[in-house]
Amino acid sequence: MDVLVVGGCGYIGSHACKILSEKGYNVINLDNLSRGHREFAQWGTLYEGDLGNSDLLDQIFSRHKIEVVMHFAALAYVGESVTKPDIYYQNNVQKPLVLLDAMRKHKVEYFIFSSTCATYGELTPESIPVREDCAQNPVNPYGRSKYFFEQILLDYEKAYGLKSLFFRYFNAAGADPSGAIGEWHEPETHLIPLIFQATLGVVPELTVFGSDYVIPGGNGDGTAVRDYIHINDLVQAHILGIDYLRRINKTEAFNLGNGKGFSVLEMIQTGERITGMKVPYKLGPRRAGDPPVLVGAAEKARNLLGWKPEFPHIERIMETAWNWEKKFRKK
Ligand SMILES: NC(=O)c1ccc[n+]([C@@H]2O[C@H](COP(=O)([O-])OP(=O)(O)OC[C@H]3O[C@@H](n4cnc5c(N)ncnc54)[C@H](O)[C@@H]3O)[C@@H](O)[C@H]2O)c1
Repeated sequence: MDVLVVGGCGYIGSHACKILSEKGYNVINLDNLSRGHREFAQWGTLYEGDLGNSDLLDQIFSRHKIEVVMHFAALAYVGESVTKPDIYYQNNVQKPLVLLDAMRKHKVEYFIFSSTCATYGELTPESIPVREDCAQNPVNPYGRSKYFFEQILLDYEKAYGLKSLFFRYFNAAGADPSGAIGEWHEPETHLIPLIFQATLGVVPELTVFGSDYVIPGGNGDGTAVRDYIHINDLVQAHILGIDYLRRINKTEAFNLGNGKGFSVLEMIQTGERITGMKVPYKLGPRRAGDPPVLVGAAEKARNLLGWKPEFPHIERIMETAWNWEKKFRKK
């Protein structure tokens, strides 16, 4: 089966291309390399171009018998989205509409969308771990761009019959155990790579944003709590999603997380255990829009998709990230 992976040269998309190829899918990768890396285009056929280019999309859909589109391409920095909302709405809403038009024209019926826990916004203590039916109140343009696109997909199902899955990722983490690819964002804002980059001296030190959070339940150390999910487990859910769309033929939202929260300081301690080295860090102020806790309930994905994460333990997730970071920084 031909699968179009949009954003296949990025962190999550490249892992999807690798695993889909290994499972026998024919991968077509469309990426404009604005935030991705040519070095990650190791699986499938790469079309270098923009997802808002309708001529290019016409060519791709005419040449290949694409059954499913997995859409990973987006701008995804919360801070940048606050100062440049124009490019977020263009890239994350307007251009993907061109992609949906091309799909309609070429009668492609299944769409799998990278959504995010940022669509939930600030959670109340009663809503943790958050379920898919919790009210969505995103607090920044990035989260809103993803929320709006979910709404568009619901309208497209009603009007045009397009079936979509929205996967609301919690914190994607780790790397393929082969070490062939891993997390590579420039600039990097995610905690796990920054822990290891601080350990290796790639960045002078890590800043912990906020040490005065009040964590519901009362056991917190004052730093923000997040749910980390291994990248290959995310991809596995997408592959089960293909089967779900073909069998059940229904639009659905799924959280993808491990259902367990770890504070920033716990993550630093785990990093120190894994590396046997100190992580240089300093405490800084909270960042605007960062909620104290984001932990997701993913029973729906387990029950409806039969999804079972292979990396439920944070140590194992972080080890794969550490192996990648060591190898990558040696180059
Ligand atoms: N990384 C996370 O923890 C996380 C969490 C929640 C949701 N997400 C979502 O998952 C998706 C993938 O995230 P990632 O971390 O792999 O991001 P990434 O920046 O590593 O990858 C995105 C890829 O999309 C490409 N791209 C962007 N705009 C494009 C366009 N207009 N045309 C063609 N290609 C384009 C980029 O060049 C890049 O290769 C994003 O939609 C993001 O919002 C990620």
